[in-house]
Amino acid sequence: MAFAYRGGVLCAEEVSLEEIARRFGTPCYVYSRAIMENNYGQFARALAGRAALIAYSVKANSSLAVLALMARLGAGFDIVSGGELARVLAAGGNPRKVVFSGVGKSEAEIEQALRAGILCLNLESEAELERVDAIAARLGVRAPVAFRVNPDVDPKTHKYVSTGLAQNKFGIAHGEAERLYRDAARRRNIELIGIGCHIGSLMNDAAPYAAAAAHIGALAARLESAGIRLSHIDLGGGIGIRYRDESQAPVAEFVRAALAALGTRKESLIMDPGRAIVGDAGLLLTRIEYVKPGESKSFVVVDAAMNDLIRPALYDAWHEVRTVRETESGAATDVYDIVGPVCESADFLARDRKLAARPGGLLAVMAAGAYGMVMSSNYNSRPRAAEVMVSGANASLVRERETVEQLFAGERVLA
Ligand SMILES: Cc1ncc(COP(=O)(O)O)c(C=O)c1O
Repeated sequence: MAFAYRGGVLCAEEVSLEEIARRFGTPCYVYSRAIMENNYGQFARALAGRAALIAYSVKANSSLAVLALMARLGAGFDIVSGGELARVLAAGGNPRKVVFSGVGKSEAEIEQALRAGILCLNLESEAELERVDAIAARLGVRAPVAFRVNPDVDPKTHKYVSTGLAQNKFGIAHGEAERLYRDAARRRNIELIGIGCHIGSLMNDAAPYAAAAAHIGALAARLESAGIRLSHIDLGGGIGIRYRDESQAPVAEFVRAALAALGTRKESLIMDPGRAIVGDAGLLLTRIEYVKPGESKSFVVVDAAMNDLIRPALYDAWHEVRTVRETESGAATDVYDIVGPVCESADFLARDRKLAARPGGLLAVMAAGAYGMVMSSNYNSRPRAAEVMVSGANASLVRERETVEQLFAGERVLA
């Protein structure tokens, strides 16, 4: 257990969170390198012996320290913007292992990707095929592409994170796929190399993932009969983690089910996990400012807020909250809402939690490594939190806390 109590104090690997708070301040994201490596290893082991690429989904946590760790482990990267591509390159990632997804790639982003020599552009519309073809012709290159096909499979998760249904904005309709592949195959500046899908996030069960794999595998077979041979199948990400008491199928089961659904197909397999690699590897460390007992509700007001971690406000997401001291002496045990200083009623990190809370005490919001820091904002002119990576007995600052001056450094006051 890389986040566990040792001597009554919650630790990240071998470093106490009290020490991290003292050295780096709060609020602060704390990551465990060992958990990330272990999570990556689950994929690597399950895919051993099969031509495969684990393309870590940068959107989940794009900290350079995380990306550099992934690059060292041999990961590829799934990106959705030119900004993410720049981060991957800055962290030492190999552009030949980068797949670029997203419905709205701009001309500048497509050019940037082609110049960097990425593995594959995942096209999401006919108009995007036209755009990529024109840019590749202008640059005098062949653009390596796949289509992201929308298999119309329900991942049975939160409506905001399902992406593979017919009503979602993502991918091309499966009924259109063969026509678009034939069209693309005729273009001199397009090199058709793959096919992909991503049906949504937070899947606890492997069945929808396997159904999407079967669908995409069957489509690859039909394309092959029509003379279009592809070198990879990209099944996307979306494997969930346990936030509360969900029964979560392990990574190996997703891989096994996908490989079984693909049967004898020879294409290499790309998976783009995000949350499953970093989600449980991070926590948000925050200090209690006030304990505010009330008639109908009691509140713990902490120094982190919805601008630091928006998942509870956005998705009603549930994160476990632990006191850093296993037993808080002199603290009032009650059922509290844990809220931040932001002026919104949606500014909560957790609701109705029984806790022993005292002003100055530390809390850890668990499983905040994915879609935490990356979704943070400066709402209420709050500087963004620091980030710390722990490895064994070492805690290193990997992102400085933002300063108030940085918040308005680019702004101008008109005369
Ligand atoms: C194409 C694609 N791949 C991978 C992911 C990562 O999803 P997750 O973090 O749930 O694994 C996403 C998330 O939206 C995505 O759109």
